[in-house]
Amino acid sequence: MSTSVPDGNVAAAARSSSTTPLLRLDDVHAEVAGQPVLRGVSLDVAEGEFVAVLGHNGAGKSTLLRTVLGLVPVRGGRISLAGEDITRTATPQVVRKGVSLVPQQRGYFENLSVADNLTFGARAEGRIGLDEIYELFPILRDRRAQLVGTMSGGQRQMVAISIALMSSPRLLLLDEPSVGLQPNLVARVMEVATQVNTEYGITVVLVEQNIEKVLQVAGRVVVINQGLVQMDAPVAEVTADRIWQLL
Ligand SMILES: Nc1ncnc2c1ncn2[C@@H]1O[C@H](COP(=O)(O)OP(=O)(O)OP(=O)(O)O)[C@@H](O)[C@H]1O
Ligand SMILES: [Mg+2]
Repeated sequence: MSTSVPDGNVAAAARSSSTTPLLRLDDVHAEVAGQPVLRGVSLDVAEGEFVAVLGHNGAGKSTLLRTVLGLVPVRGGRISLAGEDITRTATPQVVRKGVSLVPQQRGYFENLSVADNLTFGARAEGRIGLDEIYELFPILRDRRAQLVGTMSGGQRQMVAISIALMSSPRLLLLDEPSVGLQPNLVARVMEVATQVNTEYGITVVLVEQNIEKVLQVAGRVVVINQGLVQMDAPVAEVTADRIWQLL
């Protein structure tokens, strides 16, 4: 994707063009409420990668993730999953093909118990079940009968992440999962994202504000600005200062 790869990122460009990426966005345009939000986003995510997406408020990060899921219609360009065109595929089918989103807000059912929330998104043949979730977040086992609406913000976020994992996705999209959480929970969320990436081989795209945390966990950093990819580089080639300059 030469249009989205900045100077000095030739290696990443060569790598992504040599094999079929798990996720490919090619010049994707999308509108929200009649206004253009994505203005030609091109981005490749290889299987097994951990990519962080940064950008100003309103830059289009959530829209980007929602567009992949089919929640925002594509006005131009193409989205493919493992080489298959999913540009106009309905959300339930995209989920069935292995894409899961933890939305920026309320990715759970407040009036259901923890256990019911988890089994709602479960896949019988999936590698991730209740045992694996309760191992990742032991508190959810203790609270499994509690209504999610009565839990703390941090516990709710654990439920939201767990619901997304219960479908045993190939690609997990996380939209600012650590916003509003206390530091130890932010660290736990980052650990879990890393764990599912390394232990389960799930490809992760994480939208996140915390640059320092991003540089610790991600393999590649993408900066979105006004609906375009402004930077796309391996973590080893960027510094927090350089990202700050773009934000
Ligand atoms: N439901 C909506 N109605 C109208 N405009 C919207 C709606 N949702 C998003 N937008 C607009 O679309 C643009 C992109 O929003 P988006 O939520 O993708 O940004 P973001 O990068 O995720 O921001 P944040 O960091 O604040 O979450 C913004 O200008 C926003 O105001
Ligand atoms: Mg957002």
